[in-house]
Parts: sequence; C-alpha cells; structure tokens
Amino acid sequence: MAEKKTVTLTVLGSTGSVGRQVLAVVDRHPDRFKVVGLSAFTNEKLLREQIDKYSPKHYYYPAGGVEIQSSLFDFLDDEKFASKCVGSLEELADHTADITVSAVSGIAGLWAAVAVLKRGGTLAIANKETIVCAGRHLKALEKKYGGKILPLDTEHSAIMECLSGADPKSVKSLILTASGGALRDLPQEKLCKVTAREALNHPVWSMGKKVTIDSATLFNKGLEVIEAMRLFGVDADKVKVLMHRESVIHGMVEFVDGGIKALLSTPDMALAIQTALFYPTKVPGAVQELDLAKLGSLEFGAPDLSRYPCLEVAMRAAKAGEGACIAVSAADEVLVDAFIAGTIKFTDIAAVLDKVERKFAKVGNVALEDMIGIDAEARKYTYSIGVK
Ligand SMILES: NC(=O)c1ccc[n+]([C@@H]2O[C@H](COP(=O)([O-])OP(=O)(O)OC[C@H]3O[C@@H](n4cnc5c(N)ncnc54)[C@H](OP(=O)(O)O)[C@@H]3O)[C@@H](O)[C@H]2O)c1
Repeated sequence: MAEKKTVTLTVLGSTGSVGRQVLAVVDRHPDRFKVVGLSAFTNEKLLREQIDKYSPKHYYYPAGGVEIQSSLFDFLDDEKFASKCVGSLEELADHTADITVSAVSGIAGLWAAVAVLKRGGTLAIANKETIVCAGRHLKALEKKYGGKILPLDTEHSAIMECLSGADPKSVKSLILTASGGALRDLPQEKLCKVTAREALNHPVWSMGKKVTIDSATLFNKGLEVIEAMRLFGVDADKVKVLMHRESVIHGMVEFVDGGIKALLSTPDMALAIQTALFYPTKVPGAVQELDLAKLGSLEFGAPDLSRYPCLEVAMRAAKAGEGACIAVSAADEVLVDAFIAGTIKFTDIAAVLDKVERKFAKVGNVALEDMIGIDAEARKYTYSIGVK
C-alpha cells in the first residue's frame, strides 16, 4: 500500500471560529497534516498556544492591529516567537504549503488569497467577503497559474459536490438553503428593538460574530448568492435561496430534466472542512451520522424579502455588478460592527445598505487593484449617511 503523504497546511485566521474548526479537523488526523503557518489579529493568547502546539515555520500577528498591550512586547521580544513572525498575511500566504486555508474575516483576506493562487497553490477559502469582491479575478488566477480553489462554506461545498460530473449545460439552478438566523421567530415589528446579544444567538450554527449577525439579517445568504455566482460561473438568476429551518440540506443543484441533487448532513462545518482538506477523497468521521428516520420531516419555504430586506439588497447588488457587491460587503462590515457596538439599530443595517447599493449600482466590473479603493469609498459613504 502506498504511504500517505503528509500535507502541509497554513491557516490564515487560525484564532477565529472557522480557523479553530479547521485545526480541530487537523487534530483528528495528526499523521496526515503538518501545520506550517498560522495567523491572528487580536487574539495573542490563543495564537501563542497554537504556536506552542503546532510549531509552525511562520506566523503573522500584526503589532499595529490592536491596542498595544504590554504582553505584546513580550511576545515579539521572545526569540522563539519573533524569528518566525512575517510582515503580512500576504507574505504568510506566499510561503509554500500544500493547502492554504483562508479563514480570516472581511476584505483583509484579499491579497493573501491572490498570493496563494499566483504561486499555483490550493486555496481552501471560507473568507466570503474576498470571494464576493474578487471571485472573478480569483477564478482567472486559478486558471492561469494552475492552482485550485476549494470552498469551505458549507453551502458551496455541498454545491461543488452536487455539480461533480455534471455537464454545465445541464444545470438549471443552484439552490442555497437558509435557516433564517437567530431572529427567525420574532415578530417583524420587534426587529427594530433587537439587541446584539439576541441577534448573536443562532439556533443552529456556532460562528463568528459578523457572520452570525449576517445570518440574522440574511445578508449572509445574499453574500453566498454572489459567492456561488463567482465560484461556479453562473448568473444571479440561476441562484435561488430556499428557507430550510433544520439546516440539514446545505445546497442543491436543479437540472434541466427536472431532477434535483442535494447534499445532506448533520449541520456541522467539519464536513465542508474535511471535504476540502482531503479533496477529492472521502474519509470517515467528519460529522455525526444523520438519522433521517428520527428526523422525520424537513421544512421548506420561500424567503420573505420584506422581513429580510438585506437579502433583497444583496440580490440587487449581485445583478448590478462587482462595484455594488464590493460596496455592500464593505458597508455591511461597518454596519455590523456599529450594531454590535450599540450605535445603530438592527433595522438600520438594511436601510443603510439599500442606499449604499443604489450609490454604487452603476460601477460595474472592478480591476483587482481598484477593489480596496471602492471598499474604502463605500465605508466612507456608509459613515457619512448612517453610522456614528
Ligand atoms: N464561522 C462560520 O461558521 C463561517 C461559515 C462560513 C464562512 N465563514 C466566513 O469565514 C470567515 C471567517 O469567519 P469566522 O466566523 O471564523 O470569523 P472570526 O471568528 O471573526 O475569525 C476571523 C479570523 O480572522 C482574523 N482577522 C480578523 N480581522 C483581520 C484582519 N484585518 N487581518 C488579519 N486577520 C484578521 C481574526 O483574528 P483574531 O481572532 O486574532 O482577532 C480571526 O483569526 C468570514 O469571511 C466568514 O464570513 C464563516
């Protein structure tokens, strides 16, 4: 029997919710993976623990990223840690690893993703804001340099699996399921009074704060529609959203002959992570077995766009073009931070996003080097119209 090769792995955003779940999968397969790169932004304590545990060749920790605490100086003065610290996420991503996982949040992951693909590497990407903004460019780089993009988002991983072996001409639509988020049972008129604590209490998934608030507004599903367009090369009208409370079906592909393929599992991101890390091999034990007989039934419904106006805005941006997608994604980062900080209401998120989308709707396609500029412009506009 051929000996299994050790796969080297860099995890960008290793201290976050996705990053920690990736390392948990790695821990279950210690003979298979060797972690060679890690990164954090604010969580020095956890990064230290991860460095001690995995002994990576390199890591990234931005000294200016946070309020400098005294312990930070110890960290950077410590010879054991200091010699391995690189100057940017992009530099870390540029170092060879068989698979580079991008689990950072926001547009901050853009240049690191580009760096991986420019060296012809494999990019397992959860960082949806980067796909939303630059997915077209990332796919072009994948093709040009012979690398590979593997989605880590559960829905897109499911669609990738359902598309396997399919003739693109036979695909009628891609279907993304949505649980409805933390506030799905709250009467609509109470949404303006919702606190961040309530919106962060997701009924099914345990995720980072930004993506949990985005799930409550369903803006997350809108980002996923754009993500699916970019990853699978389809137009906006070919991506549908289906409400599905149980989050057991993650993604579906509808074919022209009327057939629908779906991927089901116990809701746990470990399946998508394991799918990417072992791609295309299947190995046992990613998630708890799904007992359909015990489950009994599944619920489906159409999304109510009056209840979820952020989804409607994101779908408009998807049709309008890259400029609008970059702008609403950037604005949403600002708005979610402001909502969590308590300076705006939950319902202000959709109201401001709507204005941002209208302002940037005519921008059209954006060159890679202009993305950060549009992002910055959209943030500035967002502050000017709605965020204190
Ligand atoms: N959580 C999920 O289940 C899930 C599912 C699908 C897709 N996603 C997507 O995956 C990405 C990560 O989500 P998450 O929930 O894991 O977020 P998270 O818990 O907030 O973690 C984000 C990670 O990125 C780091 N980071 C944040 N800002 C950074 C910056 N400006 N520069 C460099 N590093 C930075 C954080 O470092 P510190 O922790 O040290 O500050 C942390 O390691 C997002 O794009 C999200 O939409 C998440």
